[in-house]
Amino acid sequence: MSLQKAALAVRENAYAPYSNFKVGAAIRSADGTVYAGCNVENIAYPEGTCAEAGAIAAMVAAGETRLTEVYVVADSPHPVPPCGGCRQKLSEFGTGDVAITMANLDGVEEKITLADLLPGAFGEHHMENT
Ligand code: THU
Repeated sequence: MSLQKAALAVRENAYAPYSNFKVGAAIRSADGTVYAGCNVENIAYPEGTCAEAGAIAAMVAAGETRLTEVYVVADSPHPVPPCGGCRQKLSEFGTGDVAITMANLDGVEEKITLADLLPGAFGEHHMENT
């Protein structure tokens, strides 16, 4: 299944009663499997869990830890970019050259690499003295 199809399909299941902003994300892992996630909000933490974090959680739960491609879609005037926290999470599971496609329901797509999305990302190599 294409990342676009998977992200659009999972977006339908988003639970966003507080923001009414449904987001779908799909990632391809190193072995080629597609994992999908939607945002899930809750009353105690109305911002909830982002779609990207949900897709990463599905990949990790399936025993994989490397992602090679990401697709994010929402009903926004401009393609929606991953939030700051998700940029960090994505960067911990993918290399800088991983392509992130941001899209909206009108079919507008923008592509950016993980390195450009989070320049100077904190990573494992910063802890090499410990
Ligand atoms: N959201 C995502 O799921 N991914 C993003 O990249 C941006 C924001 C969600 C979080 C929250 O449920 C809603 O969108 C509004 O912030």
